[in-house]
Amino acid sequence: MEILIPEERIRQRIPELARKIARDYEGQPVTIIGVLTGSLMFVADLVRHLDLSLQIGFIKAKSYRGETTEAGTLDFSADLLPAVEGRHVLLLDDILDSGQTLSCLCECLKERGVASLRTGVLLRKIGRQRIPCEPDYIGFEIPDAFVVGYGLDYNDEFRHLPYIAVLSEKSPLLRRAPQG
Ligand code: IMP
Ligand code: MG
Repeated sequence: MEILIPEERIRQRIPELARKIARDYEGQPVTIIGVLTGSLMFVADLVRHLDLSLQIGFIKAKSYRGETTEAGTLDFSADLLPAVEGRHVLLLDDILDSGQTLSCLCECLKERGVASLRTGVLLRKIGRQRIPCEPDYIGFEIPDAFVVGYGLDYNDEFRHLPYIAVLSEKSPLLRRAPQG
């Protein structure tokens, strides 16, 4: 697998994002909502650099993809979601691809009466967004390739890699599978 973003670059970028977030919230209490499972590393590393009054919660989402890795139907579960009414919420996901996940989850959070809502993604794939959705915080812009590592999976594997790597289109591993 080809390494696209080495561990060291991720380690440098996370505190930069945290500084921007801390400045924007200026000491306001924040609820961070991570999209499971892909955001686990991003959330865990980012919050350790955030000197804010902070609550952390999660929402589970899964989009089913075909062989072309196009987004399918989105399934999500708010069972793990804490009370967000009246809270300043920052929704964090691993990657912005079509925009379906983030825009659906934003709607869900707005319906619950958040005081404000911002979004952040570790990665944004260039040229893939179908549903308009502009994240407030972006770690890295990446080319249109299927990537794994640092929380991102293929068929629930590779999440543990400390770097982001490209799973080659030619890889025999790349077959129809659900992504979460
Ligand atoms: P979207 O709803 O199309 O924006 O896709 C976002 C979700 O699809 C992310 O939360 C990921 O779980 C998954 N995803 C999209 N692209 C990739 C990829 O390159 N590698 C692994 N997961 C991906
Ligand atoms: Mg995901």
